[in-house]
Amino acid sequence: MCGIIGYIGAIGTDSDDELDTDGGAAVSGAPTASVGDIVHEGLRNLEYRGYDSAGVAFVGPTDGLTVAKRSGKVDGLLVPDVPDATHGIGHTRWSTHGPPTDANAHPHTDCVGDVAIVHNGIVENHETLKRELSDHEFTSETDTEVIPHLLEEMLAEDTDADLLTAVQRVEDRLEGSYAICAVREADDRIVVARRGSPLVVGRGENASFVASDVTAFLEYTRDVTYLEDGDVAALEPDGVSVYHDGEPVERGVETVTWEADAAEKGGYDHYMRKEIHEQPESLRQTLAGRLDLDAGTVDLDVSFPPGYLADVEEIQVVACGTSNYAGRYAARLFEELSGVRATVEIASEYDVGAGRTPDRTLVVAVTQSGETADTLGAVRRANAAGARTVAVTNTLGSTVTREVNETAFIRAGPEIGVAATKTFASQVATLAMLAVAIGRERGALGAADARTVLQNLSGLPGAIQQVLDAEATVREAAKEYGDSEAFFFVGRDLGVPVALEGALKLKEISYDHAEGFAAGELKHGPLALVTPETPVLAVLTEGACADETMNNVTEAQTRGAPALGCVSSGREYDTLDAAFSVPDVGIVEPLVANVYFQLFAYHVANQKGRSIDKPRNLAKSVTVE
Ligand code: AGP
Repeated sequence: MCGIIGYIGAIGTDSDDELDTDGGAAVSGAPTASVGDIVHEGLRNLEYRGYDSAGVAFVGPTDGLTVAKRSGKVDGLLVPDVPDATHGIGHTRWSTHGPPTDANAHPHTDCVGDVAIVHNGIVENHETLKRELSDHEFTSETDTEVIPHLLEEMLAEDTDADLLTAVQRVEDRLEGSYAICAVREADDRIVVARRGSPLVVGRGENASFVASDVTAFLEYTRDVTYLEDGDVAALEPDGVSVYHDGEPVERGVETVTWEADAAEKGGYDHYMRKEIHEQPESLRQTLAGRLDLDAGTVDLDVSFPPGYLADVEEIQVVACGTSNYAGRYAARLFEELSGVRATVEIASEYDVGAGRTPDRTLVVAVTQSGETADTLGAVRRANAAGARTVAVTNTLGSTVTREVNETAFIRAGPEIGVAATKTFASQVATLAMLAVAIGRERGALGAADARTVLQNLSGLPGAIQQVLDAEATVREAAKEYGDSEAFFFVGRDLGVPVALEGALKLKEISYDHAEGFAAGELKHGPLALVTPETPVLAVLTEGACADETMNNVTEAQTRGAPALGCVSSGREYDTLDAAFSVPDVGIVEPLVANVYFQLFAYHVANQKGRSIDKPRNLAKSVTVE
């Protein structure tokens, strides 16, 4: 995944202001906001989308087109000083084609340096196109570079054509998914195109923006337009024109309600810790206005057609990574609360399956970003088979929302840390509400039982706050056990997905060896790995067969392993080496235990000085299959 930004306008400039000595235009009381500053800052905000290379291109009357790019993080990029730049584009890259080198970094240009483009996604037919462009000089190994050369061809063939026309024509030649942002020396607009990769336009006063994500320009405008697949748009300071199939179209303007500081670190050393601590609040947002505790019903703001949920015969959850574990938690809830057979599949392995009735199968795609290629692929296979599809996502306007029949938003707010934390909790909470909705509609769940679940859900924010208040005890445990050889997380029932998620979190950010197991499986093999150097961390709560799990933990302790447990209030396991108390919230107690695991992973990684928010080799959203 990559992040792209474009800006054209006059923020921070004023007719009475002189350019300051650094090249920006000063406005009294306002920060200097040159094109370079705005594009550079936007890239910093987008770095979570990819961070192996960065680059910018500026257009101005004096220097024409200026491009700078290099491998490495955004802060390592020397942004050129172009005092009279009128517009610019920028890119932060996570490599797919070609390693992270200076040459492979975006922007890419044509042979003569007339156009520059940044791109997110994959041009699947780039090899064919490159063969057609054999008389052009290519300087990178990327799929992207065919685009500026195609633009060069179009502009040479038709000298009356402008950048907008050329992008519209090039778009017809590209296969795959992409978001493109283009500038040309002789054109005073930014031209963008979207197909399958996110692109949002920001409409400021005397300024227009475009980016992969609103967080790139939230400081300047909250009025946004989400482009549709196939849209091409031309950005000028005083407005944006959108075209589809060559015809002008109107796209609505929405107002983003996130606070700007929601996307900043807010005093924490790392986004991950901030996001762990945001969970009481983000969960309140997830639940807000959706629970009717008296009636025992939920309203997920999803307009399922009448009967859509009632005659579902099977639920298939498809997702990757942490979202898959949220799906595993949910699959158990679907069976218990909705009375429907539920399975969960790793999205890249998904197939509707033989013997199924697709039109009575509900496929639930769980994806924080809404852009994960494996999950989108699974949704497309489900749609092709005729299944009903629902997305559970955090990201408005994301690709998955355009592919499914219905979407339930988890409302967790932006998550910057690569390791998913608050979104896991909000995914499970949203899926639990969906399970109640289905159970109620099918008559499988009575009002009293539904009420209990909804009360448990409303107790979650407070219960998680109690865990956060006990963070010091987890930090101590991380100090004591953090240097162990390996870590095993175990649980049963709803504790299994939490054990898997606990292990994923630890390995992802600390680079330590960690595995999650169904506790009962320990004795079937993994016990051979257990030594005094392999702590076992267990979910010992309601919904997770605490006593049975404790028996398995004891088997590990007998082999010398230290045992740490998240224990429901009211239970006592005196033999544990460390016990963390979980407040009484019924079937969501394992979700509370997960917060202890998040904190444990964070403190182990922090003590080792790891790159917590951007772990090596990982990206926040994986948009390749
Ligand atoms: C979570 O910590 C991981 N970084 C990763 O497993 C993630 O959950 C997975 O890539 C799925 O992403 P999505 O929810 O955006 O689809």
